[in-house]
Amino acid sequence: MGPIGIFDSGIGGLTVARAIHDLLPDESILYFGDTAHLPYGEKSPELIRRYSTRIALHLVESGCKAIVIACNSASSNALEAIKNAVGSSIPVIDMVSPMVTYISSKNPNARVGLIGTRATISSRVYEKGFADISDSISLLSRATPLLASAIEEGFYNDSIPQAVLEAYLSDDFFKEIDSIILGCTHYPLVSNEVNVLLSPNVEVIDSPSVIALELKSQLENQELLSKKSQSTEHHFQVSDLTENFRKSAQYFFGEDLKLEEVKL
Ligand code: DGL
Repeated sequence: MGPIGIFDSGIGGLTVARAIHDLLPDESILYFGDTAHLPYGEKSPELIRRYSTRIALHLVESGCKAIVIACNSASSNALEAIKNAVGSSIPVIDMVSPMVTYISSKNPNARVGLIGTRATISSRVYEKGFADISDSISLLSRATPLLASAIEEGFYNDSIPQAVLEAYLSDDFFKEIDSIILGCTHYPLVSNEVNVLLSPNVEVIDSPSVIALELKSQLENQELLSKKSQSTEHHFQVSDLTENFRKSAQYFFGEDLKLEEVKL
């Protein structure tokens, strides 16, 4: 059976790839980071759809048995287009619906905060997702566009994301929330900084592990899980390979990666 295809605009999706690798160590991974076209968060929905469907088709043509859209901006703007492009026999897992289901089943009266890119926040996909499930969940969302770029540039574990987060989070906007979705796959790298700025009662939800569980359950349902005896192989492709990306990718995934440049 083929690998799990995972993609993002850049390195952010590696936080999801890592969680998938930890939960499903017998699965091979083919990761694609569209570094030639990042940031997706500042692109129009049409352009995000064009880039994302091209990558999804590339992953299917490369033999992937399932696709994980490890990017909130692409999940929010291109899910239907990707599903239409790859057909119904390939499971497609997005970042949004598993989170909506997870939060509403945990707390039907949740007061949720959401931070993400402009493309994600202005799509209002999380609002629609919660509204479809329950009237009693409230959602406050705010775009934090500088954050992914700072992280992509290699600024984490230092004062830069802290200052950026302070600019976005230190007013009273999120005063009433009980949990927050880090609605961009770059953000798990600064979850401690988010934690510090919000009240200690606010739960910062770890989306990569929720997405990994959703993938596992879909693979189980469709009898697509790999057997233990199968050997695994991971491949990491980017549309523009730079030295900076190489360094960050290693940090994000937590292991030495072999990167290959693939122009689509
Ligand atoms: N990682 C992408 C996401 O989850 C955002 C980064 C970008 O703007 O390209 O939305």
